[in-house]
This record gives sequence, C-alpha cells and structure tokens, in this order.
Amino acid sequence: MSCADFLTSRRSIRKFMQEQVPDDLLWKAFEIARFAPSAHNRQPWRFYLVRDRSKITRLAELHRWSKPILNAPVVVVVFSDASISPVSHIVDGSIVATYLWLALHCVGLATVWIYTLENVEEIREILDVPDNLYPIAIFPVGFPAESPPKRPRKDLKDLVVEV
Ligand SMILES: Cc1cc2nc3c(=O)[nH]c(=O)nc-3n(C[C@H](O)[C@H](O)[C@H](O)COP(=O)(O)O)c2cc1C
Repeated sequence: MSCADFLTSRRSIRKFMQEQVPDDLLWKAFEIARFAPSAHNRQPWRFYLVRDRSKITRLAELHRWSKPILNAPVVVVVFSDASISPVSHIVDGSIVATYLWLALHCVGLATVWIYTLENVEEIREILDVPDNLYPIAIFPVGFPAESPPKRPRKDLKDLVVEV
C-alpha cells in the first residue's frame, strides 16, 4: 500500500470485535508511535493501557461521544507530561497521539480518538494519575467490527492560502 493510500484509508472505528487484542500488536504500535517528534526531543508522554472493565466503563461514561469505549477489549489513554515540557507538552502529546492512531492502523488494529479536554480531572481520578499528566486522547482499541465510508473533507481551495 502506498503511503498516501495508507493515510487516507484510516477511519474512525467505533465498533469492535470482542476478540482480545494480542499484546505483541499493541506493543508494536507503541514501538512505532514513540518515534513521534517532540520539542527538544523530550518525549513528554505516557501511554496508559487500561484493561480493567470497571475503569473502562467509567471512561465510557465521560460524555455523550465516549460510548465507543464501552465495547473495546482494551483502551489506551495518552497523557502529556507538563513536568517534562511545561510549554509544549500538549502539542507533543497530540503529535504522539496521532502517531499512535496511525500506528494502530499500521498493525491492523482499529480505534477512534475520544475527546478528553472537558474531563481532565475525572480522567486523572479514574486512572489515579498525578496532576502533571494531562489527558490528550483516549483510544478504545480492537479489531474493527464496521467499515464506515470515508467522511467528507473540506475543499482544498478553502484550506490552502497562497500569500
Ligand atoms: C481531537 C479529536 C477528538 C475527537 N473526539 C471524538 C469523540 O469524543 N468521540 C468520537 O466518536 N469521535 C471523536 N473523534 C473522531 C472524529 O469524529 C473523526 O476523526 C472525524 O469525524 C473524521 O472521521 P475519520 O477519523 O473517520 O476520518 C475525535 C477526533 C479528534 C481528532
């Protein structure tokens, strides 16, 4: 598959098979994602791997768009670490989260980015993480149980500005 086909074939997947996710696939995705760039190469991030069903249920109840978490066999929460990069941790964390999303696609796993920004304290409390860690994204992970069509994108002429 070409690089362009790979990138444009990724979809947000919200329904997952019940089949467990093999550890080696997950770790392969982490191995790829950690090559994300970061300011000063500080790599201010942590991946929390969540298998505990009671924690997964609580994450699924965070807000009205977090329901896809409920049927995922495993969940990864990406945190950025403000104590390592006080100024750029959120940008760095967003980059590594995007890398992880693509890396999961690369190893044949499916996911969707679940919004965290209005539930920061609650997510810290559910996963018992310190205040220096900031939740960037929650990724319910599994094998896909749906194949949604490509979602529309804005017209390029409205996005590219030549100056
Ligand atoms: C920062 C961010 C937050 C998102 N939050 C949610 C969410 O909470 N729940 C959800 O179902 N999808 C969420 N999405 C997925 C988007 O809806 C999806 O990426 C968009 O509709 C484009 O579809 P595609 O990913 O299949 O190309 C989020 C995506 C991003 C990048």
